[in-house]
Amino acid sequence: MRIESLFTPGEITESTVKGTTVAVIDVLRAGTTAAYAMSGGCERIIPVATVEAATNLAASLDKTVTLLGGEREGKRIDGFDLGNSPLEYTSDVVKKKTIILATTNGTRTISMGQGAKEILIASFVNMRTVVDYVAGLDEELLTVVCAGQDDRFALEDAVCAGMLIARLSRDNDVDLNDGAQAARLLYRQNEEAIPSLLKNCEHGRYLESLGFGKDLDVCGRVDSLRVLPIVKDGRINKAKRPRRK
Ligand code: MLT
Repeated sequence: MRIESLFTPGEITESTVKGTTVAVIDVLRAGTTAAYAMSGGCERIIPVATVEAATNLAASLDKTVTLLGGEREGKRIDGFDLGNSPLEYTSDVVKKKTIILATTNGTRTISMGQGAKEILIASFVNMRTVVDYVAGLDEELLTVVCAGQDDRFALEDAVCAGMLIARLSRDNDVDLNDGAQAARLLYRQNEEAIPSLLKNCEHGRYLESLGFGKDLDVCGRVDSLRVLPIVKDGRINKAKRPRRK
């Protein structure tokens, strides 16, 4: 399998995603939040790029089973039911609910990946499940896209991409582009220090300043959830078994 890693969504072109399997990474926090919501039993997540798209869509859905979630500048959007902290997405809140999720970088990146065969949402918390799923696929190309921060490089996403690539390259024959090699190097440099990396990266420090320090601990719990949010036809559902090799 060839693995190509992009450090920002701005690097996405039609040919990098069209018809391929894509893994989107937004560790802080949309990817982790999606994993928590799925683990809490939500029915589906509908990722949208803008607040306007979220509110328009909510107006057309059954209010009793729909929640609006997301953030701008890390904070809950006015009038929304939930922000973007994974700790808010507990089973008693999200079970059987449809969640419309609008986040600055994470859901925007997912929207940019439309055209992919399927989009896996990868984060530290569900890494083992993502690796098992990808290893069972019969695909020639995996494109790993980091959501980054405002179209710029984000260290935590690059290191998480590197963890995915390092684990896949342990037991599989892989061909890596330079981005994937760089991500793997960054991961190897930081693999023993994920919690402190999350506290020290720019977005981690920003979230801490908003009072979301606990989210950083949650987002760094490697392999803590056995769930894989997967996007097909614009909806995020739980992945079923992979198409086996
Ligand atoms: C994003 O999509 O930009 C993030 O998940 C922001 C955050 O809530 O920390």
